[in-house]
Amino acid sequence: MVRAAVEKNTRINGEKMATSNKINEHAVFLPPDEIPTSWYNIQADLPESLPPPLDPRTLKPADPSTLARIFAKELLLQEVSTERYIKIPDEVLDAYLRLPRPTPLIRAKRLEAFLKTPAQIYYKCEYLSPPGSHKPNTAIAQAYYNKKQGIERLVSETGAGQWGTALAMASSLFDIRCRLYMVRVSYQQKPGRRTMAEIYGAEIFPSPSEQTEFGKKLLKENPDNPGTLGIAISEALEETLSDEKSRYCLGSVLNHVLLHQTIIGLEAKKQFDMIDVYPDVVCGCVGGGSNFSGFSFPFIMDKLQHKVDSPEFIACEAKAVPHTTRGTYTYGFGDTAQITPLLKMLTLGHEYKCPPIHAGGLRYHGMAPSISYLIQNGYMHSVAYHQTEVFEAARIFAQTEGMITAPESAHNIKYAIDEALRCKRTGEKKVIAFNNCGHGLLDLSAYESFLAGKLQDYEPVEIKVPKYAG
Ligand SMILES: Cc1ncc(COP(=O)(O)O)c(C=O)c1O
Repeated sequence: MVRAAVEKNTRINGEKMATSNKINEHAVFLPPDEIPTSWYNIQADLPESLPPPLDPRTLKPADPSTLARIFAKELLLQEVSTERYIKIPDEVLDAYLRLPRPTPLIRAKRLEAFLKTPAQIYYKCEYLSPPGSHKPNTAIAQAYYNKKQGIERLVSETGAGQWGTALAMASSLFDIRCRLYMVRVSYQQKPGRRTMAEIYGAEIFPSPSEQTEFGKKLLKENPDNPGTLGIAISEALEETLSDEKSRYCLGSVLNHVLLHQTIIGLEAKKQFDMIDVYPDVVCGCVGGGSNFSGFSFPFIMDKLQHKVDSPEFIACEAKAVPHTTRGTYTYGFGDTAQITPLLKMLTLGHEYKCPPIHAGGLRYHGMAPSISYLIQNGYMHSVAYHQTEVFEAARIFAQTEGMITAPESAHNIKYAIDEALRCKRTGEKKVIAFNNCGHGLLDLSAYESFLAGKLQDYEPVEIKVPKYAG
């Protein structure tokens, strides 16, 4: 929705200046002193409480005190909070500003011209962070709260390596040790990510690994096990539980992680406001859901509070891991070794064998409970793509906008292009928005396979999801 092209006063770099829709032509910069100072918690606005995590032995709501051995206390409080806004601590805000944040909101004018569409396409630039994705927004917060609690070491898993490198960076900023289990196939596909984590001072192992009992068992059964995110989570949890001074960190799925990412959408809202525009379509790729929720939740807040009818919200996933388009909405484990509580989510089942697609960040078998609920109840819908069509969209984006995107983010672009072409057919002047959540400079081997015509598309024939409850 492009609002009236009114002249209005906007503060840029602290000074009042007259702006007009001319600013649309380029990029919208939010001054640092206007960075949002609270995160948005969607649990305040959902029509009902989300189904609670269950203890798999009793199928009763999990006892939060058992989780205190796994997560920092403040993060557990955020997990169950129903406060609408949660203040960002000064130390975290300071680290955000130095990433730097706010990130620009760019209008993809050259892509629009190439597509000859009447639609407008805008994207937020989270790929500009030092590790190259949106993941530092929560990594910084998690490292901060753990450090404040006196925790000495953070343990986590990583798929494509974006989350792992973000947590490694945040750990070094807050002077806390870090150990990572990286899905073996990505460890081999993306050696640059491993090096980055090590430069930041983290230990990083291919998963399954020889470091844990679960990893050793799997390697004994199959020394070539390519790994999955579910397996890496199990190893990270086993390691955390073996050391009192360690806590586990997660890069997606849980409410506190999604909460931290809302800084993206909160900034974007202010930026759209500066140019008198409000999006009609918000799309985003989904692994565990943190990127999509980070951008979309501050907009869906308006819809949940009945202030607006649009936008339309679309989650974009890989056909090889079709958790939101073909998954079952049921209670399931978050990890392969069945250590986590049962979460009610759209899931392919914790034993789903994710094919080795290049968008490693989209390989998780389950979807964040809040996004699962919103999809299940018709507030959002989802689409799935094959990786070759996604890389084709990334090529168009690189050749028009000049930016080589991560394969995950290319799913956003694929949807945006398809929607813009639909607008071309109907003449609609929709405003399409997404978060450009990662650069692809450490994914060049995937691009190489694409250019050589060697990329394969995968799609599961049958999906069996175990039933535990609900
Ligand atoms: C660049 C990038 N985008 C998106 C994702 C998807 O994950 P999520 O849905 O949790 O944001 C990942 C995950 O690692 C990622 O690295």
